Amino acid sequence: MDKFVIHGRKKLKGTVVISGAKNAALALMPATLLASGKYRLENTPDLRDISTMGKLLQMMGVDVSKNEHTLHLNTFRVNKFEAPYEQVKKMRASIYVLGPLITRYGYAKVSLPGGCAWGPRPVNLHIEGVRKLGAKIDIDRGYIIAKAKRLKAAKIAFDVSSVGATGNVMMAAVLAKGTTVLENAAMEPEIVALARFLMKMGARIDGIGTTRMEIEGVDALHPVDETMIPDRIEAGTFLIAAALTGGTVKVECCKPGHLMAILTKLEEAGAQINVGDNWITLKASRMTKAVDVTTAIYPGFPTDMQAQWITLMTIAKGSSVITDSIYFDRFKHVPELIRLGANIELNKNAAIVKGVKRLAGATVMSTDLRASASLVLAGLVAEGKTEVLRVYHLDRGYEHIEKKLQALGASIRRISGQEY
Ligand code: EPZ
Repeated sequence: MDKFVIHGRKKLKGTVVISGAKNAALALMPATLLASGKYRLENTPDLRDISTMGKLLQMMGVDVSKNEHTLHLNTFRVNKFEAPYEQVKKMRASIYVLGPLITRYGYAKVSLPGGCAWGPRPVNLHIEGVRKLGAKIDIDRGYIIAKAKRLKAAKIAFDVSSVGATGNVMMAAVLAKGTTVLENAAMEPEIVALARFLMKMGARIDGIGTTRMEIEGVDALHPVDETMIPDRIEAGTFLIAAALTGGTVKVECCKPGHLMAILTKLEEAGAQINVGDNWITLKASRMTKAVDVTTAIYPGFPTDMQAQWITLMTIAKGSSVITDSIYFDRFKHVPELIRLGANIELNKNAAIVKGVKRLAGATVMSTDLRASASLVLAGLVAEGKTEVLRVYHLDRGYEHIEKKLQALGASIRRISGQEY
């Protein structure tokens, strides 16, 4: 397992190019199961999660190949409709194959995802949604077994706004008979990107980007090519890196409109922000102000930026409260930040952060993707050396993060191989 060795207190300066959105790619890849043929997905990020999804699709008979950032998928020979536990346990997003398989092939056997570094992260809305569309669902020895002749349209109101359930049920509905209505649907850019991809494939969807979508089922779809939207969480992470280190950074190949909540909070904290069509520059203020954040569904402040925001607040002037209203216990990064000298108190799903003058480098442990990003950020600003262990968590969702940070002037290097 690899670790990062970081020497802090270097101002970041320069330009960083943002990669394609992990969570868009993880939705579009299984969507190719909906129609046989050849697909080309451009600007696909080079990440562990993408390879994991690729391996799962290959197990189903999909031909998957990648050169650079272009993913080629050929779904002519799909002949297996199962997602085994060995594969699903590596990545929860594997459940995205449920909707496409049941609506296109009438059968799906998908492992329940099991645990996560924080939770609970149930999948009841995925299962209920597909059941409402007429699938017969059994849960047997850790597997969801779904059978259906042809799915039939339904009116589905999600109790909770769920990115994954919206994506899965939308993919199931596009080939169902009749018009399905989704209420309280997720509006995240990654779901909008999936809906647009399905439309390009011949689906008929109204209300894209709103919480109410109408999906008129069609008899068949056709393969298309698509270019991935940029990763708004990677962009937000680099902007916080610039704010933390007192630097000036330009983030290119991003969609500022996808990060408005983050930009607003960064300006409140004192950063100077300028935006263009596909770039954002951030000039850090000399002193970061403490700013409260409560995470929310899009377009609110994303839970995937909660850990990174806490790191910024550890060295802000004053106290702030960061509340996660989406995941009540997504705070595994807090004890590790405290080891770096942060002053944080957890109270249920809120972190009360009292800004300190300095963080001091230490060895810390990654526990999940965004937690490890927050530890790398802390290492960039801490006095002295910080070692971040088990960076395979980071490799799931950040493309060559150490190379991008090095190019901005950070002192960070990857030590490969030993047991950390
Ligand atoms: C997606 O996960 C993202 N993953 C997560 O990003 C992100 O944190 C999350 O959305 C919230 O924005 C991908 O897109 C691959 P949800 P997902 O269903 O779909 C509850 C990252 O760092 N819920 O929107 O699993 C759930 O417990 C990852 O890139 C149910 O109750 O999240 C949570 O409280 C981490 N029942 C809320 O909905 C369900 O059946 C939102 O979860 C499903 C969800």
